[in-house]
Amino acid sequence: MDRNLYISKRLCHNGVEFLPPLSDGNPDITTILEFSFMKIVSAILIIFSLAVSGLAFADAASGQSTYAARGCIGCHGHNGKSIVSTSPSLAGKDAAFVKKNLTDFRSGVRQNPIMNAMAAGLSDDDINNLADYIDTLK
Ligand code: HEC
Repeated sequence: MDRNLYISKRLCHNGVEFLPPLSDGNPDITTILEFSFMKIVSAILIIFSLAVSGLAFADAASGQSTYAARGCIGCHGHNGKSIVSTSPSLAGKDAAFVKKNLTDFRSGVRQNPIMNAMAAGLSDDDINNLADYIDTLK
């Protein structure tokens, strides 16, 4: 088959009509396009997964700074292990639990004078970051 006819057939009927590879040994344009498409797709996937794992680290790290800056350490202790009997330890509590309770303290759904005041100044990002950080404490 004529090379140009072959290429236009593959471009127009891709997936409809099976065409064997060109016998002259040179890759045709659709093969080249498919190959660069796959390279672009895998590059995007790699960048995306790096970004996602980077974000996860950033959250826990800024949660740790917020934990220190907001004085959580004073009652809940370093690494979430409380040394004050009236404050519960946070180590071992998962992100979903911390997020729910901080949101409830902030809105007043869960009542406690100390924690209502502590949570009042937290943004959604602060709460998410704190939850990610506390989740890492064992
Ligand atoms: C002055 C002491 C104090 C400080 C500071 C403090 N907390 Fe608390 N926290 C408490 C007490 C007391 C409770 C238990 C409240 C209750 O019994 O409902 C509590 C409860 C919690 C709970 C729920 C734990 C559970 O097991 O139900 C979370 C989560 C929490 N605090 C996170 C924080 C974070 C994050 C900070 C910093 C922004 C912080 N706390 C600062 C005293 C404190």
